[in-house]
Parts: sequence; C-alpha cells; structure tokens
Amino acid sequence: MKTYASWLYYTELKHTYGDIVSLQVLGQPMIILNSFEAVQDLIVRKTSTFSDRPVLVMCGELVGWDRGIALGRGTRWAMSRKILHKFLGKSAIQDYFESIQDECRPFVARLVSSPGSLMEQTTLFVAKLVLEMAYGLKINSFEDDTVRFSKKAAVIFGEAAQPGAFLVDTFPALKHIPSWFPGAGFQRKAAEWRDTMLKGLSIPHEQAKKDMASGVALPSFTSRVLEDMPDGVTDELLMCTTGSMYGAAVDTTKATICTFVLAMVLHPEVQAKAQKELHAVIGTERLPKFSDRPALPYIESILKEVIRWQPIVPTSIPYRATQDADYEGYYIPEGSILIANSWAISRDEKLYQSPEAFIPERFEGEKAALDPHQIVFGYGKRICPGLHFADAIVWMTITSLLATVHFSKVRDELGNEITPVPEYSGGLVRELNKFPYASRYLSATSAALIQDDAAAAVVP
Ligand code: HEM
Repeated sequence: MKTYASWLYYTELKHTYGDIVSLQVLGQPMIILNSFEAVQDLIVRKTSTFSDRPVLVMCGELVGWDRGIALGRGTRWAMSRKILHKFLGKSAIQDYFESIQDECRPFVARLVSSPGSLMEQTTLFVAKLVLEMAYGLKINSFEDDTVRFSKKAAVIFGEAAQPGAFLVDTFPALKHIPSWFPGAGFQRKAAEWRDTMLKGLSIPHEQAKKDMASGVALPSFTSRVLEDMPDGVTDELLMCTTGSMYGAAVDTTKATICTFVLAMVLHPEVQAKAQKELHAVIGTERLPKFSDRPALPYIESILKEVIRWQPIVPTSIPYRATQDADYEGYYIPEGSILIANSWAISRDEKLYQSPEAFIPERFEGEKAALDPHQIVFGYGKRICPGLHFADAIVWMTITSLLATVHFSKVRDELGNEITPVPEYSGGLVRELNKFPYASRYLSATSAALIQDDAAAAVVP
C-alpha cells in the first residue's frame, strides 16, 4: 500500500470501489469514507461511536503524545475539549481579535519590505499569535526558549506518528523490551523525544504561570482557564491541552495563508474583484477591522475557496469505532479504524463543479456550494477546536494583504514569466513546498498605510 499522499490513493479507490471502501491492513479493519454523506451519517450523526482514536504505541504511549488532544481518549480528552470549547469557541475567540489585528499589520509590513521568505515570515507570524493566545507570551524569534521546544515537540509528533515508521506500532508487544536490548533503538529514541516533548509542554506553561504570579501576564487561554478552573481540570491536563495547540495550529494556518498568496498570483481577476469590494467598503485610508467582515462577502467566498481548493489537512486523523455498527450493508466491527477523506469530498463533482479550478463565485447566491468549513476542519466531536481562531487569523491576514499589496507573477533571471505551480508535500499536513520567488510576488500598493499603522510595532 502506498504510504505517501494516502488521500490520493484513497481517492483512486473511490473511483474503483465507491464512496465507502473497506480494507484489512495486517488484520486491522479499516474503512475509508470518501463522500460527505457517509461522513455525516457516521462520524457526525453517530459521533459518540466514532470519536475515539486508535492507540499509536510509539507516538502516543512511548513518546507521551497520548496526553495531548489529537491522540487523546476517554474522559481526559473530553475534559480538554470542554475547556477548549469554553475558551476558544466562536464567541470566546473575539477576545483575541485585537492581538490578531495588531500582529497582522507589522507582519504585512515585513512581508513587503523584506526579501525574506514568505513561508518563514508567515510561520513566525502565526507562531507569535498562537503563543500569545495560548500563554500570553510575546516572542520575536524561534530562538526564544519558550518556543524552541514547542517547535521541536511538533516535529516529533509528525515523525513519531508516521504510519509504518516504527515496528512497535504493528507489534505492540515490542514496547516491553528494554532499551539496552539489541534492536530496541526505538526505546532510546522514544526516551529522547519524550524529554523534548515534555519541555515543549512545560516551559511555556510554567512561564505563563510565573507571569501571572508577578502580575505581568497578558490575558490568554492559560490565564482564563486558571482563573476559572472547571472541576476535574488539573494543572497537568491544562498544560497538555494548551501544549497541543502549537503543532496543530502553526503549519496548518501558515499553509492556508501561503495558498491564498498562490491563488492571488494565479488569478488576477479574483484579486481585482476583491480589491474593488474592499475599497468600496473601507476606502483606501484605513486597514480592515473584524467589524468589516459582514460587508465583504466576496472576500468570504475567496477564503472558502482557498480552504476547499487546497485542503491543508486532506484526511481526518483516524477514528476508532467503540462499538459494532452497520452502515449501507457494511458491518463495522468495534475497533475498526475509520478515515474521512476530505480531499475526495473537496473534489466531488456533485458538490463542486470543476473542482480543480479556483472559483470563489461558487459560494454565491441561492445555489451556493457547501461551505468547506464543514469539511476541511474535520468532523463530529473531533472537529478542529482551533477552527474559529484559524479562521479569524486567515481572514484578517488575507483582507489586510488585499488592502495593501498587489500580487503578480514575476520574471526569472532570463526574463521569462514564472507561473507558480501548486506543489505540496505529503503527510498529515500538506506543506506548500515549492514556491520559488514567493516574496517577490507581492508589491506594496499602500506601504505608507502599513508603516503608519505598524509604527509602534517591534520589527525583528
Ligand atoms: C487552517 C488551519 C487549520 C486546519 C485546516 C485544521 C484542521 C484540522 C483537522 C482536519 C483536524 C482533525 C479533525 C478530525 O480528526 O476530525 C484538526 C484537529 C485539531 N486541531 Fe486543527 N486545524 C487548523 C488550525 C488549528 C488551530 C489554529 C488550532 C489551535 C489553536 C488547532 C487545534 C487542533 C487540535 C487540538 C486538534 C485535535 C482535536 C481532537 O483530536 O479532538 N487547529 N485540525
């Protein structure tokens, strides 16, 4: 079985076998859901049966990521979701609007004034926002101790969770062999990763508490939970809940913003239409605010089309059935693994005509296509808890860029026009890995506006 770009393989299976595909992988029943309807019927409507996760021995048990949310299970996971819902839900998220707005402006200024990479600048921008929201911490670079280990812990998650990378995931009994035993290199690796992962969780958490004790803390997810600690939430559970955010938030949100830039370079007509809408609503004398959002429906459609056109997380994280179930003649035994293939859904011609094309207009009018927020952030009780935070960052960033920047193709050293091609790498999160000349696609249309607004900001 192909392990890279699994979503493409699952989509090929859809074309051969249909919307629901049942496989046996080393005796483990596995069901791929390739249609929105099947995902709704099972993962959303029967979410109590399908919201568990399978045990990943290396990443979860040995490294310890089962203390986090994405691999979390049972009442501990439910408690994490409860606090996330309370302090990161749709209305709670407004508490972070000001810092998103304040951070976005110097970011746009840096993008247009510095020749650095779009990807690096965007990663730092999102990381800053996540660290401030989660812990009230302000960072200026990845050298900062409070972020260094969070970044490493996120990379470890990706490596340790690779399907097929560790034999102990296939033969769990191997977890009992001691680290000195020949061939038990994975035990030593797990111990090293565990140590780094724990630093990633504890360093920013302890710093946030120290800042609170000395009265200098900015309001954050951590401070809000600690001020009103719900029954059953311990300090350790809070540390692991908050510590799960960095890895889940940064690469996903960054890749979404970079995909928007790519779409604007490729579609000047969409860019012009969006800028016309924006200028009609806010003029040219100020930058956008969140309160402008309802008056900018075309930009809303662009955002939807960006997340549908290139789903950054192309499949759900696998679910595990906690009891036997039947669906459309399929018997789903307890313990089956289910994967929702969001990629196939985003390419379903019944939902989106010409799915490979970038057409924001598909979300307009009475026959508007299905809002892809219902697809690309996952499903049921496992739906991404950072959805509203990510959506707010992406909206503010793309609207601020449209207000201040012109996107266009550039020419290479020989004078040939470069048409960037979307090329993403595989993995749980798709990375836009080939975007040469990325920063050169942007030129400021109102640099003065950005600089005035960002005058007070620290530019590293
Ligand atoms: C555009 C950006 C983002 C995208 C596309 C995205 C997408 C997803 C998807 C598809 C899942 C898996 C859901 C499932 O298995 O059904 C997920 C899970 C998760 N996301 Fe996001 N996400 C984004 C940003 C964020 C942000 C900003 C945060 C935190 C602040 C976050 C935190 C999480 C967590 C903690 C989980 C695990 C949830 C669980 O297993 O219960 N994500 N995300």
